[in-house]
Amino acid sequence: MKIQAAFLLILSGILLMNCQPQTTKESPGEDTDSHMQMHQMHMAQLADDERVSLHMSPEQAQHQLMNMRSHLQAVQTIVNYLAEDEYDSAAAVASAKMGLSDEMRMMCAAFNNDEFEQLGLAFHQSADKMSEVFKTRNKDKSLAALSQTLNYCVTCHARFKQ
Ligand code: HEC
Repeated sequence: MKIQAAFLLILSGILLMNCQPQTTKESPGEDTDSHMQMHQMHMAQLADDERVSLHMSPEQAQHQLMNMRSHLQAVQTIVNYLAEDEYDSAAAVASAKMGLSDEMRMMCAAFNNDEFEQLGLAFHQSADKMSEVFKTRNKDKSLAALSQTLNYCVTCHARFKQ
């Protein structure tokens, strides 16, 4: 009995030693590898970041991001209105929140970058155009106009950073 018990103890000890390194090494090891890969890919992307910096002051940066979040919210509101065939409301939001106003003109000019300013102005003008298209109450044309305006968001984000 004693010998059997000792044998079992040794056997389970061997089994445990064999198992433990497998469970602790392999799975977290795999995680670490893929995590490292993701990290390396991310770092490569950061190194490839060729966006032009606008060198904003902290105040400008905060104000600009607030404006941007408001644009995104306007887009969501517009999509909801279009889904409900509420074209006049969609048109009103487009021009009020994203159309060219004196405030938007000043914002676009504030960073002393001509290309940014032109892109910003073209974006706001496209929002005014989009507002007019909404008034035709044609969904296909409205979606196409929305896509054109969104194109300015995508283009500018690919080109500039704060
Ligand atoms: C003329 C340039 C320009 C246009 C047009 C533009 N953006 Fe931006 N946006 C920026 C810049 C610059 C940033 C800061 C990005 C950075 O520093 O990484 C930004 C940041 C943002 C952010 C991040 C906000 C935050 O709080 O972090 C959102 C959301 C955003 N934009 C939405 C939009 C949407 C939606 C549109 C179009 C309807 C749009 N933007 C059009 C230049 C632009």
